[in-house]
Amino acid sequence: MHMLLNRRVIVTGAGSGIGKAIVKRFLNEGAHVLGVVRKAEQVDEFTDHDEFCYVVGDVNNYSTNEIAVITAIEKWGGLDVMIANAGVWDFFKKLQKMSAKELEDGFSQIMSTNVRAVLMAAHASYPALNESKGALITTGSNACFRPGGGGPLYTASKYALRGVVGQLALDFAPNVRVSGVAPGATDTPISGIDALNQRQKSMNQDRERLESMGQHIPLGRISSPEEHTDLYVTLASENGARYITGTILISDGGLSAGA
Ligand SMILES: NC(=O)c1ccc[n+]([C@@H]2O[C@H](COP(=O)([O-])OP(=O)(O)OC[C@H]3O[C@@H](n4cnc5c(N)ncnc54)[C@H](O)[C@@H]3O)[C@@H](O)[C@H]2O)c1
Repeated sequence: MHMLLNRRVIVTGAGSGIGKAIVKRFLNEGAHVLGVVRKAEQVDEFTDHDEFCYVVGDVNNYSTNEIAVITAIEKWGGLDVMIANAGVWDFFKKLQKMSAKELEDGFSQIMSTNVRAVLMAAHASYPALNESKGALITTGSNACFRPGGGGPLYTASKYALRGVVGQLALDFAPNVRVSGVAPGATDTPISGIDALNQRQKSMNQDRERLESMGQHIPLGRISSPEEHTDLYVTLASENGARYITGTILISDGGLSAGA
């Protein structure tokens, strides 16, 4: 049975990691999917699929979010689900190890992608979601709930995102549900920010660090991106989560158990 038959969905950060796993799963579940990506070649494997299209751009620009929504409406006549998933990390950079300039610029850059871009995706998609009685889904993190998932910049951004989910759930009710998924450590190439000189880094290049992260997780390992996709399907489906809003569902292998 297709859980998302004909659901009209936008996914930001669709070119790798969790976003790409969502695209693949949603297409298999019968959805129409528009991916927002930084480079077209990131989605080469989907371009033959009739139900897939993409927009190339930077989610830090309002226009990227707006073009994605306009394109989806032109193609499908409306939008049911916006998944604001694109995000960047800070590779555990400690405040006391930052220069003043790194702090000044790093804070703006991480908040821009992890928080401001989500607000822009929400703003650009709200009229269409309100009309369809749809859903906004964000990708949070275990760092929405506890320190230790990054440095202070990343933690600040994900705690702020948690506030955004709660506030928008109030403001968009009753027509639009607003929720999130909070992955724990996941095997993806997530990169960092220019201000910290981390743009070219990928978390999953450092296999030793991933191994050691896994040792702190009750289930004994980090997750694959695919393992989170059931939750996105549930939150995006017409009948799966009709009474869920303002909530971020945790998928962290037990990391936050007892916290
Ligand atoms: N990997 C983890 O351990 C982990 C844990 C918790 C939460 N998350 C969250 O999951 C989400 C997805 O990250 P991921 O781990 O799949 O990493 P990823 O790097 O594979 O995916 C993020 C995607 O966002 C895109 N992106 C980043 N900045 C962008 C911008 N300004 N404009 C357009 N696209 C942009 C990247 O190109 C990339 O394709 C993020 O919000 C991240 O905070 C990841």
